Amino acid sequence: MLLLLQRFATNLLLPIRRLLNQGFGYKLNPLHYLGALTIFFCWIVIVSGIWLLIFFRTSVDGAYQSVEYITHQQWYFGSAMRSLHRYASDAAIITLTLHIIREFSINHQRGKHWFSWISGVPLVWILFLLGITGYWLVWDNMAHYVALLSAELLDSLPVFTGSMARNFLTDSSLSNRFFTLMVFLHVIGLPIFFVFAIWLHVFRISGPRINPPRTLMITVLAMMVLLSLLYPALSQDNIDLSQVPESVGLDWFYLLIYPLIQSWSPAHVWLLLIGLTGLLLLAPWLPPARQKQVAIVDLKNCNGCERCANDCPYEAISMMPRSDETAHEQEAVVDPDLCVSCGLCVGACPTAMPFRTRSELIPGIDLPDLSAAEIRATIHKVSAELDTDKKRILTITCQGDSATENLKTKHKGIIEVHCMGQLPPSFIDYILSRKLADGVMMTGCSQGECKYRFGMLWTEQRIQRQRDPMLRKRVNLHQVALAWQKPWSEYPDMSQRLNAFSRTLDNPDGQALNTQIEKPRFEINKPVKLVAMFTACGLFMLAVARFSNWPTTTLRDADQAVISLTFSQSGELLQECRKLTQEELDKLPANMRKPEECERERRPVKVVFKLDDQILYEESLAPTGIWNDGAVTVYKRIKVPHGRHQLFIGMRNSNIEQGYDYQYQSELELASGQHLLVEFDDLSKSFVIN
Ligand code: HEM
Ligand code: SF4
Ligand code: SF4
Repeated sequence: MLLLLQRFATNLLLPIRRLLNQGFGYKLNPLHYLGALTIFFCWIVIVSGIWLLIFFRTSVDGAYQSVEYITHQQWYFGSAMRSLHRYASDAAIITLTLHIIREFSINHQRGKHWFSWISGVPLVWILFLLGITGYWLVWDNMAHYVALLSAELLDSLPVFTGSMARNFLTDSSLSNRFFTLMVFLHVIGLPIFFVFAIWLHVFRISGPRINPPRTLMITVLAMMVLLSLLYPALSQDNIDLSQVPESVGLDWFYLLIYPLIQSWSPAHVWLLLIGLTGLLLLAPWLPPARQKQVAIVDLKNCNGCERCANDCPYEAISMMPRSDETAHEQEAVVDPDLCVSCGLCVGACPTAMPFRTRSELIPGIDLPDLSAAEIRATIHKVSAELDTDKKRILTITCQGDSATENLKTKHKGIIEVHCMGQLPPSFIDYILSRKLADGVMMTGCSQGECKYRFGMLWTEQRIQRQRDPMLRKRVNLHQVALAWQKPWSEYPDMSQRLNAFSRTLDNPDGQALNTQIEKPRFEINKPVKLVAMFTACGLFMLAVARFSNWPTTTLRDADQAVISLTFSQSGELLQECRKLTQEELDKLPANMRKPEECERERRPVKVVFKLDDQILYEESLAPTGIWNDGAVTVYKRIKVPHGRHQLFIGMRNSNIEQGYDYQYQSELELASGQHLLVEFDDLSKSFVIN
């Protein structure tokens, strides 16, 4: 099941990656910088947000007007800032979603990656809460919809008594303090958590890519500014609580669950949210993975050169003062909690020398699961099984790479390592100089997609003699091929690539294959590439802009009105109070004397609402609180056809068996879109219809 999901995630990303590679090339492919792009969008949000905050008025009456002022009165600048704020927030959700899918597709929820995975989960919640509170501040029709349904969602939790949603139904119940709270959450509270959570998320990763390449940033920003000028973000209509709009435009990136609150129920939406969060939190342990053994240091062979610490992608190695008698100053120490057993440190260690024959092959650092000595033994074994009548090739591949499953033939053998970066370059020299094969092909993940972040990069640099330990000069590069699974490779699959390499070996004058980074088959010229890049960005931005307020969600049919029943009421006491006798009063301490003794428990409150003799709401509400003495809250929104209606509402909170303690009956004309509010006035003890 997990594998199927992972394969699905990979296949989902593959066409996107291919497409983006055409325009951006693999080095600038946005899919390789999804986390960094999310952070970049957040920067845009912060800068544009500061501008909006300067002009925002924190009050029920002022909020909408001030946002309108920024949008329409500040020439293009205010409108562009507002649009950038909205569109960058939306774009962050897209890159975040792709980031999660991408990390999942390469199994990064598992093993030692769990920390980054788990610390990412609160980031999702915080980002959504930031977006939702942001929409709230505009205080247009969409904001009212969000406020009302968010309150309904919170009301459904057993922790709150009463109804928060009621506060969003009348002008008098809305207060400026509520706006101050929202501004605080959106501008200070949540952003502080967000920054802290991002730091927590990446601090265990060595050299995390938190900034996309400059060209990518400039392109994305330019396209976003252009979009903001051409398609500015606008508010929806101002709130009129006496009306219910037929529909509101929704930002589907942040508000996807809101139509579900309407069509399912708040409780079901909670189940969905808790279920999804639970799944994300459990993902690292579903199903339990076999723990790989971490790298171990052999002090007798470690000379403290630091290369392993420099190349470890997870900051799992620290250089510490020497703990033995040798003259070296420092030694490598592995933190088992951080090591993901990728083996990149073994590939970096100058003592991982296969030529050693007098002593055992024990490098300064090694993986117990697949040691350097085992790799050398496997090379000998696989080489011995190959027929020698044709050129022989050993393909070195990363463990679990399904694309290389069918490459084995009589002349071609496969050697698996944890990550390509685990193989020290001296092993290639060893294979070729000892005539264990005529060619070595190294293949791994797709370019820019290394599961262990730097495995492919370090390998390329070591083979191209740009990074220590370098491949020795005596190795003929004609006999070495680097064949990453590039989305735009000249060869559709690995076996064709291997055959092509085989042909270059047969033809000593032929071109050496791919020891340089491979070029795409159809080299696109620069202007076309630029156009492709801007078009891809533009399409992305258009999608962002479109789904930020479309399609609309329907609140009522064209010919409907909405009636809201909303009031709080207590049932009468279940038992009548008893007068205390003088004798009983005398026994009580002076400060506790009161004339009556009452049981706290109250009666349920029964409410019936009828329209044209049809019962639309009937409920007997039990008193709240642990002593069953609390008031009950009625909150119900009912859509009804427009036109003339007989309206009846009755409430019983005493011990009478029949009829109602309070009731209201009248004939009313309801216009389509009208919002009728039915409340109960405690002072006059009567229903009030507005
Ligand atoms: C606003 C939200 C997020 C931001 C800004 C963010 C940012 C980043 C960045 C910058 C990196 C380092 C990338 C690199 O250097 O290769 C990263 C890695 C990672 N993120 Fe996120 N991330 C976010 C949310 C998430 C979520 C929700 C998850 C999963 C539930 C997640 C899972 C991971 C994993 C597994 C890694 C890789 C760790 C590794 O290589 O071992 N992230 N993220
Ligand atoms: S195996 Fe990988 S994660 Fe572990 S110490 Fe070596 S390079 Fe670092
Ligand atoms: S690369 Fe090898 S020799 Fe150098 S510090 Fe690391 S373990 Fe020691």
